[in-house]
Amino acid sequence: AKDPVRVLVTGAAGQIGYALVPMIARGIMLGPDQPVILHMLDIPPAGEALNGVKMELVDAAFPLLKGVVATTDVVEGCSGVNIAVMVGGFPRKEGMERKDVMTKNVSIYKSQASALENHAAPNCKVLVVANPANTNALILKEYAPSIPAKNITCLTRLDHNRALGQISERLSIQVSDVKNVIIWGNHSSTQYPDVNHATIKTPSGEKPVRELVQDDKWLTSEFIKTVQQRGAAIIKARKLSSALSAASSACDHIRDWVHGTPEGSWVSMGVYSDGSYDVPPGLIYSFPVTCRDGEWSIVQGLSIDEYSRKKLDLTAEELSEEKALAYSCLS
Ligand code: NAI
Repeated sequence: AKDPVRVLVTGAAGQIGYALVPMIARGIMLGPDQPVILHMLDIPPAGEALNGVKMELVDAAFPLLKGVVATTDVVEGCSGVNIAVMVGGFPRKEGMERKDVMTKNVSIYKSQASALENHAAPNCKVLVVANPANTNALILKEYAPSIPAKNITCLTRLDHNRALGQISERLSIQVSDVKNVIIWGNHSSTQYPDVNHATIKTPSGEKPVRELVQDDKWLTSEFIKTVQQRGAAIIKARKLSSALSAASSACDHIRDWVHGTPEGSWVSMGVYSDGSYDVPPGLIYSFPVTCRDGEWSIVQGLSIDEYSRKKLDLTAEELSEEKALAYSCLS
């Protein structure tokens, strides 16, 4: 039998945490034959709720779940973890300035970075979900210099999956027949959902999405807006932000990273920019990636038209500003 993998979920007493931990314990993230030990971290005010989640995990009797660590101690939470899913953070509350929220999150990610650097298993893979996801991941990277930059990523897979969902709804086709959309840039409303390279499986072979949708106006306006603003639409409808879709997409992100992407298809991940597609190096930016042997690589050589170029630059500019703001909060 395989040795268990230790998976940390921070913010585990929250909404996404509640949807995510049973998925991990059922093998959705790492596969049906991979035992796991769950590490759940939250802050002391959520300690009692966290214990309640632990009780439910025991009650659910998951065969793959070999242990649960539920703690409000960041060192205990991070010790020996192979995978860290960072969902905990400080939410923006009414009347708060962006800078105030950034200051809170920068200090959280700075201290969690040190705990991971000093106590996680070697080669730990990190996925940041909590917003501002790209910039939290960047701070984590800066303060955990011994963790390779390629091990630190942020979640844009939910946006990627939303784009697949919108195309399948529009064409009344199976979502599993759509592939190779791209989310570029920030996990925010400046992200650029790009369908220029996306294809659909049809009885007569793969066809470009652009050819089948045949409505450029929908693709360049409504589609992009719907994906960019889907998070807000969910909040409006549910009075709570996306949780099950975020949890499911976090599982997709880690599963593909660890087990690889299928031949001929790519996914979107927020990763440390190496300057590909003239995106400034040193930002955590969402790119199309393929994964193999536990490592991602940015898909190269895709053509970028003038319209897309502007969108790629706009979201990069926002990320550069966020980075500057984050640094100003550090000093
Ligand atoms: P939530 O408020 O229900 O849960 C957050 C949890 O984090 C709470 O239990 C809180 O006590 C905990 N927490 C706060 N500070 C912490 C710290 N220093 N260490 C450990 N835990 C801490 O929020 P929800 O709905 O679960 O969302 C979590 C985050 O995910 C938010 O930042 C949200 O904006 C973000 N998000 C990101 C998405 C993405 O696609 N990247 C999609 C949806 C949400």
